[in-house]
Amino acid sequence: MVFSVGVHQNVRILLVGERNVGKTSIVLSLVSEEFTEDVPAKAEEITIPGDVTPDKVPTFIVDYSAAEQTVEMLTMEVQRAHVVCVVYAVDDDESLRKVSTYWLPLLRDIPPSGSHRPVVLVGNKTDLVDYSTAEFVSNIMDAFPEVEMCVECSARTLKNISEMFYYAQKVALHPVPPLYIVDRQE
Ligand code: GTP
Repeated sequence: MVFSVGVHQNVRILLVGERNVGKTSIVLSLVSEEFTEDVPAKAEEITIPGDVTPDKVPTFIVDYSAAEQTVEMLTMEVQRAHVVCVVYAVDDDESLRKVSTYWLPLLRDIPPSGSHRPVVLVGNKTDLVDYSTAEFVSNIMDAFPEVEMCVECSARTLKNISEMFYYAQKVALHPVPPLYIVDRQE
């Protein structure tokens, strides 16, 4: 498959994932640069003006809440997104399992409005564990090549929070061209 590489005039970043993984906390930690325990079910859409983003492109950050939104509303937001961040909690195996059994298949079933819609996997709550989910996640990346990047972060300590949005912008604006892997005959 070959897809064209277009440059967006803006970047729309959508966060999805199981309940309680910290989607809203991640968005609000980015905005306020501090962690708040008491967050709403869904953050308001955030606009970051182009002049403060590395690629000088206005960026919109969109939260998702299963408590407030229907599957139809989720589908519409996925279609509008240039990049989708699938969030799981590193201390919650079930939320990670659902990445490959529910979220990535769901995203595959929603055709992108443009030619390409990359995915970033975000493992939140690293402050709660002393291990990494990298090995498990690399298996997911093998099975779902639309996952272009993964990052572990903590909304509580702010670790990798601004980096996560930076990476999401990058993969939306500079898609990795298709890779052809050819079996080498020795
Ligand atoms: P839904 O609205 O149900 O979809 O949840 P959500 O994914 O938006 O999660 P939310 O931001 O509401 O956070 C869920 C719980 O996890 C809250 O009690 C947060 O305080 C907590 N939490 C979020 N991020 C972190 C983190 O990085 N570390 C720790 N220890 N707790 C976190």
